[in-house]
Amino acid sequence: MQPSPYTPGEIARAVPGRGELIDEFNERLSLLVDLQRLIGRIHVAFGERGIGKTSLLRAYQRLAEERDVLCIWVTAGEQSGLIAQIVDGIRDATSSWPHAAATSIREHLDQLTVTLGVPGVASVSAKTRAPAPEAVGARALEKLIRATADDRKRVKALILFIDEVQSADADGIRTLAYAWQHLQAEASDIPAAVYAAGLPNAPEQIADAVTFSERFAYRPLEMLSVGAQVAALRDPAFELDVTWEPDALALAAELAAGYPYAVQLYGDASWVAAGRPDAGGTITPRHVKTARSSVDRDLRNLFAARWANTTANQRRFLVAVAWLQEHGDAADRGDLADVLDVSSRSLSSVRARLIAKGLIRSEGHGRVTIPVPGFAGYIRELVDDPR
Ligand SMILES: Nc1ncnc2c1ncn2[C@@H]1O[C@H](COP(=O)(O)OP(=O)(O)OP(=O)(O)O)[C@@H](O)[C@H]1O
Ligand SMILES: [Mg+2]
Repeated sequence: MQPSPYTPGEIARAVPGRGELIDEFNERLSLLVDLQRLIGRIHVAFGERGIGKTSLLRAYQRLAEERDVLCIWVTAGEQSGLIAQIVDGIRDATSSWPHAAATSIREHLDQLTVTLGVPGVASVSAKTRAPAPEAVGARALEKLIRATADDRKRVKALILFIDEVQSADADGIRTLAYAWQHLQAEASDIPAAVYAAGLPNAPEQIADAVTFSERFAYRPLEMLSVGAQVAALRDPAFELDVTWEPDALALAAELAAGYPYAVQLYGDASWVAAGRPDAGGTITPRHVKTARSSVDRDLRNLFAARWANTTANQRRFLVAVAWLQEHGDAADRGDLADVLDVSSRSLSSVRARLIAKGLIRSEGHGRVTIPVPGFAGYIRELVDDPR
């Protein structure tokens, strides 16, 4: 009996299906480490809940740490603000450095803390036309980044990882973006980079905070292809000398429909259904079929929690989208307005909130879908066709 190698609800140990992004990251890593260059654009991967954002950032981090890059990890959204979180991260990571190496970093840390800590700077500067606090902060942050990344004896490069970037404060995003702009203009030989991940509204949140969004490189995370799902199911078992029958792989991939969290649920529950096989064991379609009820239960719990977390207006909207997409079509603004019997303009704030929550995805031209497999079906079971 071997324990399950699958990771429902945990960081994935490998990220099949993200090969292009990993290749791109490796190339940037080489620019950073081998050529000692700044990565001038802030990278932002975005997608729905459970699509694998954190797992991707952690995979980047593992690759970077193998190359002696100093990695600072921040999960945005704390009260203190993004920059304070970054400052804390750098302080922690460098606190054990010998005094000589850390002196200038510490000076910059202190300076930045003072800059951040002055209450009411924003309102005063508006009146006196003093430089905006984020501009002051950006200079200080830039110096801190320079001092930290430039300590070649200790680190090859510096990468800031920012998860849940959609929850970062606008001032923090602005300060970071200004700092990166300065670095790009004046210090392209500082080996530093920022990699962020967030929900589908992250690009919008960032665009609202800064005017020059071309400084950001956005990468949407899609559902997994069949091949990626097969790799995610087969490889961890293979390492324990357990084989999936091809039909079992095909069935699990079909049922999980590309949603990474569901793939892990199917892997885990099929493993249990197969009796937590010893080396030499096999997982068959029968095991996957047995797994189905437990996976459905877990997914329904997840959907129920997401549903509970919506307002009455949002629910009406979701129900309309779920029924309109029953035959695989995206729901467009006009259809939705008809079904809900409201003007299409009045839909926009509900729509924006649902995108922000990662429950619907914009497909362009005012069309939206419910992207997480199974959620639309769950909603249709819950509420009858409103038409
Ligand atoms: N490339 C992948 N292949 C297979 N499974 C994956 C992959 N990426 C992530 N997973 C699995 O999917 C689930 C969700 O992963 P993760 O927590 O990284 O997603 P997330 O987008 O950060 O979710 P959230 O929005 O809730 O923070 C986990 O069970 C994880 O093990
Ligand atoms: Mg996450």
